[in-house]
Order: sequence, then structure tokens, then C-alpha cells
Amino acid sequence: MNEHSSNFLREHNARQVWHPMAHPAEMEQIPPRIIVSAEGVRITDLDGKSVIDAVGGLWNVNLGYSCDSIKQAIARQLAELPFYSAFRGTTNPRLIELGHKLIEALKPEGMKRAMFTSGGSDSVESALRIARQYWKVRGKSDKVKFMALKKGYHGTHFGGASVNGNSNFRRAYEPLLAGVFHAPAPYLYRNPFNETDPDRLADLCLAAIDDEIKFQGADTIAAFIGEPVLGAGGVIVPPKGFYKKLRALLEKHDILMIADEVITGFGRTGEWFGVRNDGFKPDIMCIAKAITSGYFPLGACVVNEKIEEAFMGSDDPLAAIYHGYTYSGHPVGCAAAIACLDETFSRDLPGNAAREGDFLKSSFETLAQKQETIGDVRGRGLMTAIEFVADRKTKAPAGKNYMAAIADAAYDAGALVRVSGANMMMSPPLVIERRDTQAIVDAVAAAVSGVKLDPAK
Ligand SMILES: Cc1ncc(COP(=O)(O)O)c(C=O)c1O
Repeated sequence: MNEHSSNFLREHNARQVWHPMAHPAEMEQIPPRIIVSAEGVRITDLDGKSVIDAVGGLWNVNLGYSCDSIKQAIARQLAELPFYSAFRGTTNPRLIELGHKLIEALKPEGMKRAMFTSGGSDSVESALRIARQYWKVRGKSDKVKFMALKKGYHGTHFGGASVNGNSNFRRAYEPLLAGVFHAPAPYLYRNPFNETDPDRLADLCLAAIDDEIKFQGADTIAAFIGEPVLGAGGVIVPPKGFYKKLRALLEKHDILMIADEVITGFGRTGEWFGVRNDGFKPDIMCIAKAITSGYFPLGACVVNEKIEEAFMGSDDPLAAIYHGYTYSGHPVGCAAAIACLDETFSRDLPGNAAREGDFLKSSFETLAQKQETIGDVRGRGLMTAIEFVADRKTKAPAGKNYMAAIADAAYDAGALVRVSGANMMMSPPLVIERRDTQAIVDAVAAAVSGVKLDPAK
């Protein structure tokens, strides 16, 4: 890049664009890093600095940045058929092939049909809409409400924001969807029960969900949505067995279960899908991100046999799917996903995620013994979080300036990490090797010991 174009980029950075999840004035003041290229698990910025991408794009670049088979598949598809719609009456070969591949991959979950979308928020929106429609098709049109966990993240469409469990994503956009109710998350470090035993906490959360279901009336609730591991809310790993018991509870009350696998799908948690950590089978799964390793925006909402049968067996006009997007089944996206899944399933990504994730977590647990500002370390597979505190006893969260300084120092030391509130989150590509995982640990350790700011600020 020549001097002139670099200067142009710097001058206009965050000037004509509003960035997601940030205050526009703050972005002008502290402009975002301009990432110009990437290779393997490393990214390079406009200044030529190269660091390990410990964020993995945004929890999605599971295969790293150098997967040629996906790049070639995209190029081939662009030459052959850059677009055709899947709305009633037409389809395309890659859409058919990807549908087959995805349903095969989700056979253990009993999944039967996929609807393609342009990303995670679309997949969640599709799942919520299909859940409501399912009950109407079944003649139970009172079942319209949704339940979800506090701290959950389900994207930013109105439906997704409504089931979202973090007020940051809700307040400015209220009123949200009516008839959505939240239960406490099984978050061991902070929970309203002050419970520190994982099994007891799981039971308390389940009792709260059961209580809310009875209060609302099970015959008014369409579905419960949850992430197998809560990601954006701070990598909250539910106690073993929580989701299996929740599944049984929902079944007892005849409420659909939606697993939001947008982050956890395709190996990140140490299993191919997050639901397999706990061995439960949801009715609907939301998929996105790693289905193309981030190389093309694509997602899917996938439903099981029970839902497919209700729609297929109904001659009610209500059973027609009046839902979908111009880019549902985009041929280039589907070609990217086919190549991505071939590459993904040919490798032991879950095994590597489990090994490298355990290494990250145990390294940060060791670091926590020396660093007073680390309140909690959590993770499963390559979803890892460090929660920082200003005071370990009171668990007062670390302040914004402190967190920003730590993230900057980690970048200077060679790793891009993500900070949200008092959490530092890491989700590197699943192809990462030990020397690079070690480099993330070293960068974070250098940052935490080097930053001398008041952690409360
Ligand atoms: C669990 C979960 N669901 C949904 C979404 C929304 O996906 P997208 O940002 O692709 O719309 C995300 C995004 O991070 C997510 O983590």
C-alpha cells in the first residue's frame, strides 16, 4: 500500500462509518485498528505490525486465514453462478449440496431441514419465527412466548435482542418483543443465589425456570433459546448436566428448545457441536460463523424431525414458510461453506480446541495466582475468558480504562484480544499450534503485569 492510500485510510477511519458495538464519537477519538492482511493465525495492521489473532475474527475464523480450498471454491462459484435466488420456484446446485452436507453432519441431533440465512442474527430470527409458526400449525396458537437466559447473546435483530440477556444490547432499542422472559444464568462467579457449588447452582437455575414456566403457563410458551456455552456474555460454561436437565424440563412442559450454536458449532467447544458436551438434542439449531470460517456471510436455522413432520403433514396455508432472505442459499456462500465443512471435518479441530483451550485456561489460572486483578478464569475448548476485578473480595468489576490499557498492552506484546466490560475474551482459530497459544499467554501475562493503572478506573 502506498503512502497516499495509507494516509487516506487513516484520515477517513471511522469518519463516514458507524461501527457496530461502539460509540461513534469514541471511535473517532480512538480509531479502530486497520487490519490489512492475514495469514495462518496472524493478522497484520496498516503499520505493518503482525500479531496473533486471539479473537479468531469474531469467534468465527476457525480455519485461520490461509484456507485456499475455500478461497478457490468462492472464485470458482463466482465464475460459474454468482447469484441465484432460492425463493419459490428456483434453487442452485451448491444450496442442494450444502443442505445435504449439513443435515448429514447433524444426524446425531436428528436434524432434518435447513433454511439458509446471511448470518447469526438471521438464524436466530428464523428460529424464533419458525418456533411460533410450528405451534400455530399444530393448532396451539397461544404458544407465542419465549424464554432465555440472562447473560445470553443472540444477535441484534428485534427478536434476537428481545431474547438477549444483557441490557447493553436492549435499553436503547426498547420496547422489544412482548412476551419474552429471562431466567438467571448458571454463572458460578456471580449469581443471585450466591451459590458456589456448580450442581446446586444448576438446580437453582432450573427451579427458577420451572417456576417462571408455571407462572406464565406452559401453554403460552413457544420456545426456550440458549447457547451451549454463553459466549459474548463472558464465556459462561454451564455446570455439567445443566442443559440435559433443562431439555427434560422443557419436554415435560411441551416447550421447544432452540440451541444457539452460532459460536459453539463446528468444534470450538471441544466437540463438533456444543450440544454434544452435554448430550442433549434440541428441536432447532442456529448456525453461522464457522460454517464458512468467516470467508462469506452465511448462516442456517436447522429443525428436527418433529418440526419437519408438523409442517409437511399440514395442508393448512399457515404451514407455508413466509420467511427467508434474498441471500438465503447464496451460491457463493454455499460453495464457501461446502469447502469449509470438507476442510473442517477432515481435521481434528475439536481435539485441538480441547487441548489448546485447556492449556490457555490452566495458564491463566496460574497467572491468576500472581495477579490480584484477575477475579475469574473460565473456558471450554477455545472459548476462554478472564474476568478482571478492581477488588477480589467485593468482586467490583475492573474499569473501562484499565481493560482498554490491558488490551492495548497485549496487542503491543503480540496478541489481539477482545474486551467486553470487565471480561477479556479469547477465541483463536481452532488450527492454532502450541507455540502460538503460548504466545497469547505470554502477551496477556506481559500486559497484566505491565499495566499499573488503578483497576477501578
Ligand atoms: C450466540 C450468538 N448468536 C447470534 C449471534 C449473531 O450473529 P451475527 O453477528 O452473525 O448476526 C452471535 C454473534 O456473535 C452469537 O454469538
